Amino acid sequence: MKIGIIGAGNIGGNLTRRLTALGHEVAVANSRGPHTLTALAEETGARPVLASEAARDAQVVVVTVPLKAVPDLPAGFLDGAAEGVVVIDTGNYYPQQRDGRIAAIEDGLPESRWTEQQIGHPVVKAFNGTYAQDILDRGRPQGSPGRQALPVAGDDPAAKQAVRDLIDELGFDTVDSGGLDESWRQQPGTPVYGSRGDVDSIAKALSEASRERTAEWRA
Ligand SMILES: NC(=O)c1ccc[n+]([C@@H]2O[C@H](COP(=O)([O-])OP(=O)(O)OC[C@H]3O[C@@H](n4cnc5c(N)ncnc54)[C@H](OP(=O)(O)O)[C@@H]3O)[C@@H](O)[C@H]2O)c1
Repeated sequence: MKIGIIGAGNIGGNLTRRLTALGHEVAVANSRGPHTLTALAEETGARPVLASEAARDAQVVVVTVPLKAVPDLPAGFLDGAAEGVVVIDTGNYYPQQRDGRIAAIEDGLPESRWTEQQIGHPVVKAFNGTYAQDILDRGRPQGSPGRQALPVAGDDPAAKQAVRDLIDELGFDTVDSGGLDESWRQQPGTPVYGSRGDVDSIAKALSEASRERTAEWRA
């Protein structure tokens, strides 16, 4: 599959490593330009590109930049993507440590809905509560006892299924956590955030989430 990854940090770097190892054709971008990605490209075989080019012909695009950087993504970066491109959003709102105040999110808009509005394309929320290192270390074959599960939220069933299939390839189970309006259930501060549980444990954690943002996760 052709996959564009925008953001080559903790999550984007490790997704590049695992997805290339699985045989996917990965184009990867950061903010400083492809010349700063030669080490990752040599290590993985991924193609380093400008952020404006990462989505070209891609069937899946992963947006994995700090939330505050989402509005800075190049205008129209998805224009050259394959028809029906699936966009994965790994983002989290860290108002105190990194992102500053984003009023709409403070007022209750789910974080991924905000990102979707910024980029003008539907997103599927996945990986946001997964430790980057776990993407490298904790994948297991289907059916392994205690296989770690990731919650996946999104409005388009086909897009969500495509993401669940890709996560299965990476070695993890998934739990359908509903549409994007429900995706607050997997935001920072919820029981599922950072959990390494299996399907049953993740489903239980999602059901126990509260919509209220705690002080720690407010500006
Ligand atoms: N770290 C984790 O374990 C983890 C887990 C789950 C979810 N997340 C979430 O996933 C997102 C990414 O996290 P991370 O830890 O991978 O971040 P990170 O290590 O700080 O890396 C961020 C990447 O985004 C790139 N970037 C920033 N602005 C950009 C722009 N305008 N255009 C293109 N690329 C841009 C950076 O490029 P430059 O270096 O060139 O600036 C860098 O490669 C965040 O929302 C985070 O909260 C993180």
